[in-house]
Amino acid sequence: MTMESLIGLVNRIQRACTVLGDYGGGDSAFSLWEALPSVAVVGGQSSGKSSVLESIVGRDFLPRGSGIVTRRPLVLQLHKTDEGTQEYAEFLHLSKRRFTDFALVRKEIQDETDRITGKSKQISPVPIHLSIYSPNVVNLTLIDLPGLTKVAVEGQPQSIVEDIENMVRSYVEKPNSIILAISPANQDIATSDAIKLSREVDPTGERTFGVLTKLDLMDKGTNALDVIEGRSYRLQHPWVGVVNRSQADINKNTDMVLARRKEREYFETSPDYGHLANRMGSEYLAKLLSKHLENVIRARIPTILSMINKSIDELESEMDHLGRPVAVDAGAQLYTILELCRAFDRIFKEHLDGGRAGGDR
Ligand code: GDP
Ligand code: NA
Ligand code: MG
Repeated sequence: MTMESLIGLVNRIQRACTVLGDYGGGDSAFSLWEALPSVAVVGGQSSGKSSVLESIVGRDFLPRGSGIVTRRPLVLQLHKTDEGTQEYAEFLHLSKRRFTDFALVRKEIQDETDRITGKSKQISPVPIHLSIYSPNVVNLTLIDLPGLTKVAVEGQPQSIVEDIENMVRSYVEKPNSIILAISPANQDIATSDAIKLSREVDPTGERTFGVLTKLDLMDKGTNALDVIEGRSYRLQHPWVGVVNRSQADINKNTDMVLARRKEREYFETSPDYGHLANRMGSEYLAKLLSKHLENVIRARIPTILSMINKSIDELESEMDHLGRPVAVDAGAQLYTILELCRAFDRIFKEHLDGGRAGGDR
């Protein structure tokens, strides 16, 4: 039996948490979610968030349009499978159904957003979980969040602007959150919504990865080297520049494989960025994040385990209060969480032992 990847293991805990009402923006008293490292994607509207995610996946699958399209967090779990296997997607709320047509994945994200928020165009912190199994992805989990905005669009109360900011903040203020801060290169970095928020919650820049999109849209004769080389705004991790599909490419249905190739060519032949070509682009970004996430998880295993064990103790004493077996909902839910904690405690320890016995994969 091959050992499940650490990222895959954390994915399972995250799905279980969501089912139990424990997620980034949730207010459950018990939060295991907070102990789990994850990568949250933040940026202003139209900064290129969806484009970056689609490039990382190598698939067209996110809803698009004008206004506030992403109105619930999307927990996107990428699972690398063996070469030659069929690519498919699966939703937590529709487990058992395998999607091989990614146009239907897009439609289901839209429908499931509306199921919770109504057609009112309100936002909700309850995440949608989507898993993609493919030989063409790296193991990685990304949380797509609503775009930061300054004005509400028609039919939405102005309060939505603040609601979005609060929801995004609730995801990125947790010390375990890794921030993927998306800024467009054709705007002054000092005005970037992503950098403003990340500076607030991560002033030292130790958990922020800066991504600069739209390099191809900068005025002729200018370049973004001051940002990319860390002189404009310094982060602990290197900035990564990307070139996504333009609106014209999308209208023409330019496929993602071609788009990735064009992006590579852009950097390889660029007089400005040629010397950085092997550290630019969405494929490099995906690998960088996957490696970082795995390292962070490995480093946090002891903390996660002690959190789980503390929870087990608390839950057990609470169960004793209630008396067991309990039929009421609250008791049943506590019991489920308790069972889960025990299961994860076991799995993590096995992973640690396996890791020691077999070395790193
Ligand atoms: P989001 O609102 O942050 O999710 O932004 P989108 O990914 O939907 O992108 C907004 C618009 O910018 C779309 O028309 C994209 O085609 C375009 N866009 C995003 N990134 C780039 C880029 O790197 N270059 C070019 N030329 N257009 C881009
Ligand atoms: Na929570
Ligand atoms: Mg978007």
